[in-house]
Amino acid sequence: MRKVKLHDLTFRPMISKSAVQKRVKEIGAALDQEFFGKKPLFIGVLNGAFVFMADLVRQFSGDCEVVFVKLTSYSGTESSGKVETVLGIEKSPSDGRAGKIEGRHVVVVEDILDSGRTLHFFLEHLSDQKPASLSTVVFLRKPTAAAFLVEVAHVGFDIENKFVVGYGLDYNGLGRNLPKIYVLDK
Ligand code: IMP
Ligand code: MG
Repeated sequence: MRKVKLHDLTFRPMISKSAVQKRVKEIGAALDQEFFGKKPLFIGVLNGAFVFMADLVRQFSGDCEVVFVKLTSYSGTESSGKVETVLGIEKSPSDGRAGKIEGRHVVVVEDILDSGRTLHFFLEHLSDQKPASLSTVVFLRKPTAAAFLVEVAHVGFDIENKFVVGYGLDYNGLGRNLPKIYVLDK
């Protein structure tokens, strides 16, 4: 039970490295069954999803493409919580390279579902581009995820409404490299 200190806060282990790896293997196997032969397009949401994505796609045995997007969400002045793609996939590349959504089996990969706002709006944006199918995989989900409707095909772990780090998730930039999930220690 070794704790870690990031900036001013202390975190204690919550999900072990072996539990994380076991669960990711299960989800990867499920995706392999579902999408083998369909050449899915995995879209990861940066920065948090990079670790989960890397482990997940290495469980996939068929052809697949992997891209990442960077999203920002504005709440404050915009009550709708508009989400913008900062760095993203091309809308319709003429040379047919990775990133075209139309007709593709798209799997969105995200680190954690908190309010669900970010994914809710991003999924709407993707669905406008007529994918053959659109599904979502999240590594962690908090109970607050009920705030915005997001249908999730696979969840790694449902957790309490507490701040967590590790496995891609950060606290002010630190902690993404930790191989287990840590929770804020009181
Ligand atoms: P949502 O739009 O409210 O679902 O926000 C989800 C995003 O907030 C995630 O992609 C994370 O970047 C961030 N986030 C939410 N909860 C945590 C947490 O406990 N630790 C670290 N980042 C979090
Ligand atoms: Mg994120």
